[in-house]
Amino acid sequence: MSPNEASTSLIMIFGATGDLAKRKLYPSLYHLFRKGKLAKQFAIIGTARSPWTHEQFRENVKDSVLTSIGTNDQIDDFVSHFYYQPHDVTDTNSYIKLRELAAELDSKYSLNGNRIFYLAMAPEFFGTIADHLKADGLTDTLGFKRLVIEKPFGHDLESAESLNAQIRKSFAEEEIYRIDHYLGKAMVQNIEVIRFANAFFEPLWNNRYISNIQITSSEKLGVEERARYYEKSGALRDMVQNHMLQMVALLAMEPPIRLTTDEIRSEKVKVFRALRPIEGEEVDEYFVRGQYGQGTINADEVVSYRDELNVNPQSNTETFVAGKVMIDNFRWAGVPFYIRTGKRMTTKSTKIVIQFKDIPMNLYNRNEQLNPNLLVIHIQPEEGITLHLNAKKSGQNMQTNPVKLNFSNDGTNGINTPEAYEKLLYDCLQGDATNFTHWDEVALSWRFVDKISEVWEHQTQSQFPNYSAGTMGPKEAEQLVQKDGYFWWNITDLDVENC
Ligand code: BG6
Repeated sequence: MSPNEASTSLIMIFGATGDLAKRKLYPSLYHLFRKGKLAKQFAIIGTARSPWTHEQFRENVKDSVLTSIGTNDQIDDFVSHFYYQPHDVTDTNSYIKLRELAAELDSKYSLNGNRIFYLAMAPEFFGTIADHLKADGLTDTLGFKRLVIEKPFGHDLESAESLNAQIRKSFAEEEIYRIDHYLGKAMVQNIEVIRFANAFFEPLWNNRYISNIQITSSEKLGVEERARYYEKSGALRDMVQNHMLQMVALLAMEPPIRLTTDEIRSEKVKVFRALRPIEGEEVDEYFVRGQYGQGTINADEVVSYRDELNVNPQSNTETFVAGKVMIDNFRWAGVPFYIRTGKRMTTKSTKIVIQFKDIPMNLYNRNEQLNPNLLVIHIQPEEGITLHLNAKKSGQNMQTNPVKLNFSNDGTNGINTPEAYEKLLYDCLQGDATNFTHWDEVALSWRFVDKISEVWEHQTQSQFPNYSAGTMGPKEAEQLVQKDGYFWWNITDLDVENC
């Protein structure tokens, strides 16, 4: 095995005809294959209800690779490793057939009994599938067994606990890879490196020097075809419980003593434990929710959330959340972490702005405030960091001018960074669970979010819709930050191209 090559394995994809598999998993596996990062010996079984043949499946995989990557070099060799088995997730006979095919491929490709079960399908089946995998003998294998499970992991703490208890009957915690695809994003992984590999950030990374941190993850798209799921989820469960709080944890954690999975996760867990619980009447003080009305996106008129397909015309589901998260520990006491996420906003962008405290006085233009120093971490679509500083204006004066130092990932490497899923699949094949969420993180983040959703569920929200599509959310989101004396940095102004 070459040093970069992942372990030989059989990967079983449940939900092989679904959107996620087509858009993300097949193109990512193909990328790994092309880069020589998949073991020479590997096989993939796709399962779903449709009565496809191996050939039909391979054609579909080819299509999805071509559509998403636009090249098909070595595609026939790649798809020759793909097999299809029609499957009913509740039926023991289906699993027995799957077990037979798995055994056959195991010996055909010498896979050493290594198995990855990837659940890329509706969450209501996660528990049932895990039960059957064990009961019907698919986990009786001489090699490793790993369960990769997509979000949502439960709907609240209680349902997450019961799902966890159910899958733990078939898989140990270290065999469970809970996906949060934000943890596969290059610049999310870079947060730790920026912090812990540079001498000048870490000494300033605390409440003495940082005034506030702002994390915005905005989307232009609306709910699309996902209303059935989203109506019950809303932005709080869909984005805050996982992606947004994971970014908070990476920004706020202490340096791990070593870069091992356990050490990193245990530092993140401490952040989740230090989250100030927001409950009861405090919810309105710390959190704002919104729902989009009609508006304009890219010069096109778009309908309101309540007019979207399969959405209740009186829906109280939030499509936007802004919140102030406090971490009550020594390092962060008093520093607000403002988070903001929503659908149908002005732009598709994820950015983190770390705002440093003002210096004690402005020697240069005494009547004016100097611009604060900012460190902007561009997560997507641009990848990089920008440092906002003050320098001398040119000419015969002693006035200051804001300047920006930029580092852009694309510019340096000259290639697109790999998709999050590609990194995560590779990590899972290598047995590295660092960029997957541990149960303790999931449980603590549900505990935090549940207190907010409980209050929202009992309030009748008559103000919806309260922001127009194509804007940055309701005015209450501005007020949330303004009442602390801050304002949201305009994320378009912070784009690398505008620097
Ligand atoms: C998913 C949410 O987890 O993340 C979606 O379910 C959301 O609603 C998506 O659109 C955003 O991911 P990204 O990578 O496009 O920022």
